[in-house]
Amino acid sequence: MFEVRNLSVSIEGVLKLNDINLKVKPGELHVIMGPNGSGKTTLAMSLMGHPRYKIVNGDIILNGENIKELPMYERTRKGLFMSFQHPVEIDSLRYLTFLLEVLKKNGKNPDIDWIKRVFEKMGLSEEFLNRNVNAGFSGGEKKRAELAQMLLLSPKYAILDEPDTGVDVDSMKFIAGAINEALSRGTGIVLITHYARILNEIGKGFYVHILAGGEIKAEGGPELAEKIEKQGFGE
Ligand SMILES: Nc1ncnc2c1ncn2[C@@H]1O[C@H](COP(=O)(O)OP(=O)(O)OP(=O)(O)O)[C@@H](O)[C@H]1O
Ligand SMILES: [Mg+2]
Repeated sequence: MFEVRNLSVSIEGVLKLNDINLKVKPGELHVIMGPNGSGKTTLAMSLMGHPRYKIVNGDIILNGENIKELPMYERTRKGLFMSFQHPVEIDSLRYLTFLLEVLKKNGKNPDIDWIKRVFEKMGLSEEFLNRNVNAGFSGGEKKRAELAQMLLLSPKYAILDEPDTGVDVDSMKFIAGAINEALSRGTGIVLITHYARILNEIGKGFYVHILAGGEIKAEGGPELAEKIEKQGFGE
């Protein structure tokens, strides 16, 4: 189980998340929705261990182990994955070289044909593997490549920060397909999204948590996501 207990986080001395609790079991999907600036990316980055986000209270427990002091790469090694809202471009590193390195560091035995197949499954031709990481990729291509990384790493738990923002209908299907595949393999997923449309493509039940002003204000099932889609966050 991946468990967030009473987590409070500050950025440069200002409290941004207050007393967040979340429990994710293998194969479960937990959806986080909330207005712009409510702290969703802050939560994702804090769980992953980005040094800018300071944990002032609480714990992050991965399969019984408190990982809140561990650096980002150690969390990755323990089976935590994150896809970024704004994937960075790295101009001097070929995507394939990057992937081979990441996979090796995480105890996988990378096989180039397998990597090509996973990229193809995400609608990305071999050409993308020969380009530098995200360099000049369109918004949708970047997000599909992030989810290809998830499928290659097969993490225990994945935090996906708006994988469906700015993507067209076809890209969205690739992304939903990757989420469904990871769930069926037993990956527990925290999905940050603004849209119910991706949730319509998810083949199983899920939990919804509403984050506003750095706090979880409401929790429920798919009906909560539909309500937000129709009525907005309101007051
Ligand atoms: N490095 C930083 N320095 C100061 N404030 C920051 C920093 N990073 C984030 N914040 C602030 O923290 C708050 C939460 O930001 P966050 O990026 O977590 O929002 P979000 O819920 O992901 O929003 P969106 O839906 O727009 O992606 C915002 O008010 C933001 O301006
Ligand atoms: Mg965000």
